Amino acid sequence: MPQSDMFSSLEFELIDEQHFELVKKGEELIKLIEKNEEKEKVLYSYDDLISSIRYHFKTEEELFNSFDYEESYRHKKMHNFLLDFLMEYRENYAEHNMPISSYAITFLREWVKAHVSSFDLNFVKEYKKAKGIL
Ligand SMILES: [Fe+2]
Ligand SMILES: [Fe+2]
Repeated sequence: MPQSDMFSSLEFELIDEQHFELVKKGEELIKLIEKNEEKEKVLYSYDDLISSIRYHFKTEEELFNSFDYEESYRHKKMHNFLLDFLMEYRENYAEHNMPISSYAITFLREWVKAHVSSFDLNFVKEYKKAKGIL
């Protein structure tokens, strides 16, 4: 799926750039999984994606704390949900050789699209309003 089909820009350069990077890394990982690449390669790419996601969530969450953001608690819970989901699949794959199913990949894509077009979009609007950015 090309980047442009994933979701549209939030008009917030820092966040948009990170999202772009994450989609790129996510699609690279999906390619490795679909090609049945060796475990070591898949895990390397998986771990790299997870650490980039952690960094991205930290960036957003630091911005949450810079103003009175009402959805902060729920938005963070969403972030933690995704990380738990990814970690569970990672462990099942790494420790028990359970394959990362196409169901999981579809779920992930849909989750990310929904998250960006609801929580992130709304957060950016609130942030700009609070900071007086047009
Ligand atoms: Fe985000
Ligand atoms: Fe977010």
